[in-house]
Amino acid sequence: MPVHLQIVEDEVDVARAASQHVCAQVRERSDAVLGLATGSTPEATYAELVQLYRERALSFARVRSVNLDEYCGLDGAHEQSYRHYMQTHLFDRVDIRPWNTLIPDGLAADREAECRAYEERICALGGVDLWLLGIGSNGHIAFNEPGSSRDSRTRCVQLTAETIADNSRLFAASTEVPRRAFTVGVGTILEARRVLLLATGAHKARAVAAALQGDPGTHCPASFLREHAHCTFVIDRPAASMLES
Ligand code: PGA
Repeated sequence: MPVHLQIVEDEVDVARAASQHVCAQVRERSDAVLGLATGSTPEATYAELVQLYRERALSFARVRSVNLDEYCGLDGAHEQSYRHYMQTHLFDRVDIRPWNTLIPDGLAADREAECRAYEERICALGGVDLWLLGIGSNGHIAFNEPGSSRDSRTRCVQLTAETIADNSRLFAASTEVPRRAFTVGVGTILEARRVLLLATGAHKARAVAAALQGDPGTHCPASFLREHAHCTFVIDRPAASMLES
């Protein structure tokens, strides 16, 4: 089945549409396993979800969550860690139970064991119902950089210069961006029952076009999503600007 493409006006509409997808999933199954992403793109979606929670239209009391990735070497309390991001943007603002939130431990001494345990935990949860994703300007999903195979699993990877440059805006200097990160694999993501990729802005247009209309392959890990039976891209007009009709 081809990727379902939902093109909306702007980033406000992307957040609104994405939060509706998440809401529908949690209403269908109150103990849904949500796969979550960090980065600039989903921030507005989390704000919408917090608002729905405050309006009592949504509860996370039984929801379980799994995150895509985490920087190696950062403590969960570090301001740029993805644990900190999730606490600030969502977890501390809704009724999700802390023990139901899973994020790789950036400080794990045995990185291979951490990756194995992460996959086992996802399995023990029964797999992910809906995985929310962003897309990197180089076509990465999570930290599956170009070159990542379709069957890749949770592992510790080297970040590309492009990703370090993209992410350095959040650090005092680009030298402070960790060089390695834990990431679930493309294969891990493809096993989710549904996938929802969000993209906003013209700087994502090339990656979106490559993912949806370019030759599929490891040069653009997001292109593997075309194999998924239930994948939706929710993107705004600038991010859709390089798609051929
Ligand atoms: P962004 O990152 O949402 O900060 O643009 C997306 C990604 O790199 O996956």
